Amino acid sequence: MTSPCLRLATEDDLVAINDIYNYYVLHSTCTYQLEAEPIEDRAAWFRERLRQCLPVTVAEHGTQVVGWGSLSRFHPRTGYASTVEASVYINHQHHRRGLGRLLLSDLVERARSAGFHSVIGGASAEQTASIALQESLGFKRVGQLVQVGYKFNTWLDVIYLQRMLGPASPEQPAD
Ligand SMILES: CC(C)(COP(=O)(O)OP(=O)(O)OC[C@H]1O[C@@H](n2cnc3c(N)ncnc32)[C@H](O)[C@@H]1OP(=O)(O)O)[C@@H](O)C(=O)NCCC(=O)NCCS
Repeated sequence: MTSPCLRLATEDDLVAINDIYNYYVLHSTCTYQLEAEPIEDRAAWFRERLRQCLPVTVAEHGTQVVGWGSLSRFHPRTGYASTVEASVYINHQHHRRGLGRLLLSDLVERARSAGFHSVIGGASAEQTASIALQESLGFKRVGQLVQVGYKFNTWLDVIYLQRMLGPASPEQPAD
């Protein structure tokens, strides 16, 4: 199989991005969204990232988009402006081929180049693939929120992980 190509997303990728995501809405606790994302909302989400100069990336095999990633602001208040959150979703038929690592490590480097201080990753506590991927890239567990989500008739915990990018101070978790 040829190597995947990684590039910035365009509006032409939004249907593929949304299809990949909506599979997980319907089948997984990796997102707590309960109903499929309408394509109009995905387009607004994309425009907002463009406006904020935050990247949306895709991995392609040939002409097929097989995964995507994005950086989002961690929190809208101005004092959080140095912190971003990373998201990565791989087409469920293309797992364990290195795509998640490719997309997430690229997002970390984009965040570093853009001058952000740290990247946050969130994962539902039972999402072992997500947690293992992030830990393999140097994200450290920094907290767990108990039963903040409810999906598929089950209460769910969220684990937050953090990858420091800037120079550490004594109060900050080590890189
Ligand atoms: C989590 C996810 C992005 C991983 O993507 P992937 O392309 O399958 O993962 P990769 O092949 O790049 O694996 C990289 C590392 O992640 C870990 N990993 C990935 N899948 C795993 C699994 N099922 N179980 C345990 N570890 C796993 C491993 O450490 C792996 O390294 P290795 O293959 O050398 O052991 C993918 O499962 C996915 O899209 N899940 C749904 C969305 C989601 O949870 N997104 C949040 C991720 S930040």
